[in-house]
Amino acid sequence: SLPVPNVQEMVKNDPLHVPERYVRNQEDGPLMNDMSHLSSEIPVIDLALLSAGDIEELKKLDLACKEWGFFQVVNHGVAKEVFQNMKNAASEFFELPLQEKNKYAMPADDIQGYGHAYVVSEEQILDWSDALILVVYPTQYRKFKLWPITPEGFKKTIDAYSKGVKSVGEKILRSVSTIMGMDEDAFLGLYNDLQALRVNYYPACCRPDDVLGISPHSDTSTITILMQEEDIKGLQIKHNGFWVPVKPVTDALVVNVGDVIEILSNGKYKSIEHRAVANENKARISYVSFICPRDDVGVEPLEHLLDSKKPQKMYKKVRFGDYLRSAMKRKMDGKAHTEMR
Ligand code: SIN
Ligand code: FE2
Repeated sequence: SLPVPNVQEMVKNDPLHVPERYVRNQEDGPLMNDMSHLSSEIPVIDLALLSAGDIEELKKLDLACKEWGFFQVVNHGVAKEVFQNMKNAASEFFELPLQEKNKYAMPADDIQGYGHAYVVSEEQILDWSDALILVVYPTQYRKFKLWPITPEGFKKTIDAYSKGVKSVGEKILRSVSTIMGMDEDAFLGLYNDLQALRVNYYPACCRPDDVLGISPHSDTSTITILMQEEDIKGLQIKHNGFWVPVKPVTDALVVNVGDVIEILSNGKYKSIEHRAVANENKARISYVSFICPRDDVGVEPLEHLLDSKKPQKMYKKVRFGDYLRSAMKRKMDGKAHTEMR
């Protein structure tokens, strides 16, 4: 990643200025076209019912993965304090002086650490955000020198949060495997071995319509699990051509289908484009966990899903590691290009 300014610091020093490098292409349409009436239609799934094999809930999951690519989960079994501790610690971390945070600065040849990921060119329009990115599973991949020790206990907090998210991810993958007509353990240990945490900090912006917190992209993951703060808008998803805001539901996690599931399902389930917008008065922090295969896993449509209606594989086989790296070179911009035609 190329070195770029720290956005939080930039805003602190000069809150009324938006440098040219951050100004988005206005041709992409307004950011605030109000589609919030559709927010309430984003499926909310009860994970306890789902895990118990409740047919209605499984149908809801199938519909959510087909029509939305996004859903929220409640009754997920992770204790409130685990979420709250994470929110408290992360907010404290981002409030530290830049010099302190930079002790964990992302090395030039790495995508882990504190900084600004995916900067690939000087011309690239920059996102209005900073991030702390850490690989959390498998545990032997943890690079502890990049795990902040301030505030005190942050490492333990990240560990507990990641463990909670991992259990949620396993429950969801079991059910996704079920609705794809397989044994419920078919995906585990193959498509969820790697887990990375990305904590995004979106500073307030005096011209929120002119910047993007994160530009539109789809996730390369198997699934992504996101915790949002209450009362602060930001995440928007593409649905039938419209950008729909995802309103935070109390104590819920937002889940989205990643490219890996889209490929495995031969396009039945959709990895949807999404973006995050900045707010005029408030900073926003989001907590994104990417559940992924390891680099050497080959990803292609599952044979048993090919039938007379869809006899052909719509995606080429890809090694996950290659896929991830090519997506990063494109800066995760827009929808991935795995389709064969
Ligand atoms: C992301 O897509 O990586 C972040 C979305 C969000 O901050 O809500
Ligand atoms: Fe994303």
